[in-house]
Amino acid sequence: MPKIPSYHLFPTAETASKTLAAEIGELVSSRAAAGQSAVLGLATGSTPIPLYEELVCLHRKGLSFANVTTFNLDEYLGLERKHKESYWHFMHTHLFDHINIPPGNIYIPDGTIADENLQGHCLDFENAIVRAGGIDLQVLGIGRNGHIGFNEPGASPEVRTHVTSLNKVTIADAAESFDGPQNVPARAITMGVGTILDARRVVLLAFGGSKAGIVNRALTPGITSEVPATYLQLHDNVSFFVDTDAGAAIEASSPPE
Ligand code: GLP
Repeated sequence: MPKIPSYHLFPTAETASKTLAAEIGELVSSRAAAGQSAVLGLATGSTPIPLYEELVCLHRKGLSFANVTTFNLDEYLGLERKHKESYWHFMHTHLFDHINIPPGNIYIPDGTIADENLQGHCLDFENAIVRAGGIDLQVLGIGRNGHIGFNEPGASPEVRTHVTSLNKVTIADAAESFDGPQNVPARAITMGVGTILDARRVVLLAFGGSKAGIVNRALTPGITSEVPATYLQLHDNVSFFVDTDAGAAIEASSPPE
């Protein structure tokens, strides 16, 4: 039975990010106390930056990430790790360089893999998630066109980690950071919708007025491949954490939690 994700309205991106960081901190420390690991699915883009700042703060206050394994949603194809727009670079700059996660526990799709090895690489990525015990908590952002990871409009719900072509809205949104649309990679590796739906819990962050329309659509009953975020209605443990601007157009009949 499809289920509309619950949503939580926060006054600012910072308060939403602190709430999610606290949830992640609890998960990580309770697992550590039980001698277990915690597996996080992570996102890039401007949206999760305050979350990563807060996780770094929690680490400075004593939270250890020694028992954490992470899987990033996606990576541009054709970018070296050190390219300033690679997600590898983003994740190290904003999070991994500042916490004590063992480097061997960090999984980010490799954007430098040759075409003939891509299929094997995607399979290895899926297998690594299974070996780690599955993702406990997946953090998501949302594209203005409703994409999650790089699952663009038209994506099917069963698909696993794969190579995809970027949609024109996605390319337009990335154009500024790449100094022009012609420099935005045409393809990416992304976890599939099926991979995301296998996470035990999903929290989607959305901040700012430019996300208001798509947040409302994702929270409106009706699953369509044209808005991949609506596939989250197939999962029974999804929360949207939105700030006032991103939540401004929500018409859902259920009140915020
Ligand atoms: C990229 C990423 C997505 C992210 C989206 C939104 O396309 N692949 O995972 O959710 O951008 O980015 P922003 O948070 O900057 O709005």
